[in-house]
Amino acid sequence: MPTKALDYDVKDLSLAQDGQQRIEWADRDMPVLRLIRERFASEKPLDGVRIVACAHVTTETANLVRAFKAAGAESILIASNPLSTQDDVAAALVANYEVPVYAVKGESTETYNKHVRMALDSRPQIIIDDGSDVVATLMKERREQIPEVLGTTEETTTGIVRLRAMERAGILSFPAIAVNDAQTKHLFDNRYGTGQSTLDGIVRATNILLAGRTMVVVGYGWCGKGIALRGRGMGANVVVTEIDPIKAVEAVMDGFRVMPMKEAARVGDIFVTVTGNRHVIDREHFAEMKDTAIVCNSGHFDLELNLTALRDLSAEPVKMRPFVEEYKNRETGRRVVVLGEGRLINLAAAEGHPASVMDMSFANQALSAEYIIKHHADLTPGVHTLPVEVDQEIASLKLRALGIAIDELTPEQLEYISSWETGT
Ligand SMILES: NC(=O)c1ccc[n+]([C@@H]2O[C@H](COP(=O)([O-])OP(=O)(O)OC[C@H]3O[C@@H](n4cnc5c(N)ncnc54)[C@H](O)[C@@H]3O)[C@@H](O)[C@H]2O)c1
Repeated sequence: MPTKALDYDVKDLSLAQDGQQRIEWADRDMPVLRLIRERFASEKPLDGVRIVACAHVTTETANLVRAFKAAGAESILIASNPLSTQDDVAAALVANYEVPVYAVKGESTETYNKHVRMALDSRPQIIIDDGSDVVATLMKERREQIPEVLGTTEETTTGIVRLRAMERAGILSFPAIAVNDAQTKHLFDNRYGTGQSTLDGIVRATNILLAGRTMVVVGYGWCGKGIALRGRGMGANVVVTEIDPIKAVEAVMDGFRVMPMKEAARVGDIFVTVTGNRHVIDREHFAEMKDTAIVCNSGHFDLELNLTALRDLSAEPVKMRPFVEEYKNRETGRRVVVLGEGRLINLAAAEGHPASVMDMSFANQALSAEYIIKHHADLTPGVHTLPVEVDQEIASLKLRALGIAIDELTPEQLEYISSWETGT
């Protein structure tokens, strides 16, 4: 139990023991973050720094918060999605690590927004964001606090899209580190993490067999590639829809069928959206779907499926299982099954990405916070990436932890690839 009076809003502190065990379980698979935490504990690079972390409250995030605490920071944690919180983890962070957490699985949008504002009340100097809701609220409602912010770090693609829009609008007046743009983030977290955990969410919610089913992956970016790859591995016939001709060619050459959504709507058994875009499955598509087609989303916000249009087409939805609701079309009688209310299915119905990939994502987060403290005075306002050497260092540490050695360039090779003189 906390030794000092701590403000928090979690479901039930008696869940702390379960959460503690699971946090330690995840820690075993996070060797890079652990090394950083150990160094932070001796160097205290964030001593006294006020941090707000807005992230999915999972076991992996708990280990990131532990690293901030070891570094001497005063951190507050809020959820970055109303459905992604693991209540036992939230309880353990309050009870065992004295971290103020404001996050309850299934909280309303109003509570979610209230938590964002409460986090801002702590007057953060660094904002660790996932989807940019804290920074966006700061810009809209708390402009007087902007000068106190030394910088932000952004976890996901959608958040970076929003930060770049703020940059274009000329309102981003502090540095923002685009964690998602690090190679050790998107190549692994978005691709292998989302690939595995999205299928995990679909399977846990429905217990359906994927083999032999037609799975439509909407968006062939980093996340879409991972889902398509793992879907094929489970025996699904994967169809891809895209709006970018280059990504579409890539999907074709990777061996997937590519077609417009209007056509895919008629053939799909399972639909997964990962575009970061709005209403990519819309009214006209729902109307075309086969009876009992399953739709879900793994993109950041719950606006990829136009559920308002689906509700309009359907009778009252029927809850079939946790995170599974069936909508019956009033005219055709055909049913569309929506998973996880259209929110990130991998976090709503499963546990999000496995620790092994979050190890590298959160190593980037921890080092980005340290980077802001060291360099904020020299960094220009706007979106930045961490130096490539940091990316390489994280990958090297990961390889070492996996017990895998690689080659080094010989002096002869280094000279050859640095010169233009040698040819045929
Ligand atoms: N579920 C998770 O845990 C998780 C993890 C990482 C990222 N994300 C989120 O997933 C989303 C996708 O991330 P990403 O890194 O793959 O982004 P990305 O930019 O690499 O890929 C998005 C793709 O969607 C395509 N697209 C856009 N509009 C489309 C449309 N109408 N129809 C078909 N395709 C369309 C784009 O052309 C692009 O290829 C973002 O919202 C991101 O924040 C979720």
